Amino acid sequence: MKIAVLAGDGIGPEITAEAVKVLQALDLKFEMERAPVGGCAYDAHGHPLPEATLKLAKQADAVLFGAVGDWKYDKLDRPLRPEQALLGLRKNLGLFANFRPAICYEELVGASSLKPELIAGLDILIIRELTGDIYFGQPRGRRSAPDGHFPGSEEAFDTMRYSRPEIERIAHVAFQAARKRSKRVTSVDKANVLETSQLWKDVVSEIAAQYPDVALDHMYVDNAAMQLVKEPKRFDVVVTGNMFGDILSDEAAMLTGSIGMLPSASLNERKQGLYEPSHGSAPDIAGKGVANPLATILSAAMMLRFSLEQPEAADRIESAVKDVLASGLRTADIHSEGTKRVGTREMGDAVVASLTKKTTKG
Ligand code: NAD
Ligand code: IPM
Ligand code: MN
Repeated sequence: MKIAVLAGDGIGPEITAEAVKVLQALDLKFEMERAPVGGCAYDAHGHPLPEATLKLAKQADAVLFGAVGDWKYDKLDRPLRPEQALLGLRKNLGLFANFRPAICYEELVGASSLKPELIAGLDILIIRELTGDIYFGQPRGRRSAPDGHFPGSEEAFDTMRYSRPEIERIAHVAFQAARKRSKRVTSVDKANVLETSQLWKDVVSEIAAQYPDVALDHMYVDNAAMQLVKEPKRFDVVVTGNMFGDILSDEAAMLTGSIGMLPSASLNERKQGLYEPSHGSAPDIAGKGVANPLATILSAAMMLRFSLEQPEAADRIESAVKDVLASGLRTADIHSEGTKRVGTREMGDAVVASLTKKTTKG
């Protein structure tokens, strides 16, 4: 089993180191190979996604990804910006299905900004289409406006675009995931305004006919954003496009207590995957040793389950994370009165200790 480890920028190397430590504490044989990605790859090689990094990612069974980006690269031409590396990996590997499970662990009910009763027991799965939509639609650019209210002035434009097969395949992923859960799917769109969303809604409804055992409802994205904080437990599987899924998954992160708790898996048709926390490179706390590594550690668990056929090892990591939270250890983002504040490394060490203790016991 070969894992490509792409740590990236900001807190990326700190959190990835902890996930690697946890993987190494399992008694499994992995080959891990590292490669530069993002801003650090641009600095070293002049490109955020060097050929060798892309080649390694393609050859590997799975990619463990930290985070990319820093404000200092914001003035670069877009193709050279760190975020393009991630988009390039998603597109080149065909990683169209993004799973972002928002689970509120019992111990973190008090860490969220929402009232405890709204989020206690929360377990929702956001399925975000990841290789289409306004992220990749052409044409896009800047130009002198040919018409409109201000002819001749500068304008910028992006193209929101979805094809029927793109929607069909993500709809199948959502219905199949729902079959393993509570058999409910909410499809989120903006069909009252957008053509792409009307096609989305029509196609998802057509595919639903093949899953008569799964209940489907549709919701506009503005209402979904509101319902997510009003009554989050009304949702089970949420399926949506690339842009809406990006925004709603960060919103859902707060339902789990912190953005530092939300893992993700991005899969292609061959179940090859890229596993990363849903958050970014957090330049504001990078290098301080305070970032929460649990989203990355939980992403490594998803990697074992989805790409490496090691579901028991995945369960072990998830149960070690629960134990560590139950023991009261907290990084700054989830810290509250009566709990012990620890740094990134101590949190990773505690997960390893819990894993190892269980192995010794039997
Ligand atoms: P961000 O997710 O990096 O940070 C948002 C806030 O959450 C910050 O206050 C940060 O300190 C906090 N935070 C994030 N992860 C945390 C963790 N593990 N533990 C504790 N606190 C954490 O989003 P941003 O500030 O909008 O973006 C920063 C950079 O990251 C930008 O360059 C952006 O493009 C990039 N980005 C990358 C990814 C990715 O690599 N997948 C995702 C999102 C943003
Ligand atoms: C995410 C990030 C990325 C996205 C950026 C960094 C390209 O925000 O993974 O959620 O928008 O998809
Ligand atoms: Mn995002």
